[in-house]
Amino acid sequence: MAKPSQEYLLHGGVQFPSIVHSEERLKYTTNEFQVLEDDVFNVTYPKSGTTWMQEILTLIYSDGDTTFSHSVPNWERVPWIEQTSAPAYLEKLSSPRLFTSHLPVHLFPKSFFQSKAKVIYTARHPKDVCVSLYHYYRLACFLQDHEDFEEFLSAFLEGNVLMGSWFDHVRAWLGFRDQVNILFLTYEELLQDLRGSVVRICDFLGRQLDEAALDSVAENATFKAMKDNKMTNYSLVPSEIMDPKMGNFYRKGISGDWKNHFSQAQSDRFDQVYREKLKGLEDAFPWTKP
Ligand code: A3P
Repeated sequence: MAKPSQEYLLHGGVQFPSIVHSEERLKYTTNEFQVLEDDVFNVTYPKSGTTWMQEILTLIYSDGDTTFSHSVPNWERVPWIEQTSAPAYLEKLSSPRLFTSHLPVHLFPKSFFQSKAKVIYTARHPKDVCVSLYHYYRLACFLQDHEDFEEFLSAFLEGNVLMGSWFDHVRAWLGFRDQVNILFLTYEELLQDLRGSVVRICDFLGRQLDEAALDSVAENATFKAMKDNKMTNYSLVPSEIMDPKMGNFYRKGISGDWKNHFSQAQSDRFDQVYREKLKGLEDAFPWTKP
């Protein structure tokens, strides 16, 4: 197989890898995609816990049973609505449909904003997102390599990475944080109390799971359980797309790894951009609370 294309599509001011995106699908998703009242969307900026939430949602809607999550790949169970492969997977979804999306607010399906469908938005400490994304760029053959972490950091701060600026993505979605059909979570909360977070998610979704089912969701959505699940660990993806020699999708799964990558100067530079871009939202995330 030839090396996959490393081209990007610039759409709505945002970079999308051409390998799984097209102008046509992106326009359709925003303007024509019909959201159903019971749809559930797992929305994230990349590397913020997307796959984790795919697993949690699958398990919740299976009442903790692992048959589905162990037999169908995550991208088919909770497909990305904006990707070119979506129509094929969509046909097989039963109600309620579970979707994933990395779309910023301005490109998200317009019909969502007139519906009672639900969004779970998971955010992660942006310095950890930056580090995780840096490693992902090395692993994913369809993403252009960067010279080193310093160069990647500059691209990240300027929003010159896939899905655009983390700051813009989070800021725009946070604008909806008082809306009853949107739940904001953080990767750090999931890490700190996975079972408690599952209970919170179930409450939001109106799903009643008994104690054994809740235990099973939490047990099967740990880093180790997911790393061992062939249907979630991306080992089914050909090595021409993700090169196992360059690392593992399940890299560390921790909070604070940024401290092993950022110099003091890089951290200060990041903080300055953060302060400028997220002005007024200092209380929004655990990592910025005094
Ligand atoms: P790291 O690269 O820091 O290890 P996404 O699914 O949004 O692409 O995010 C991938 C990141 O989430 C990776 O972070 C991955 O290890 C982490 N991750 C995935 N499942 C996890 C889990 N169950 N617990 C903790 N981290 C998890």
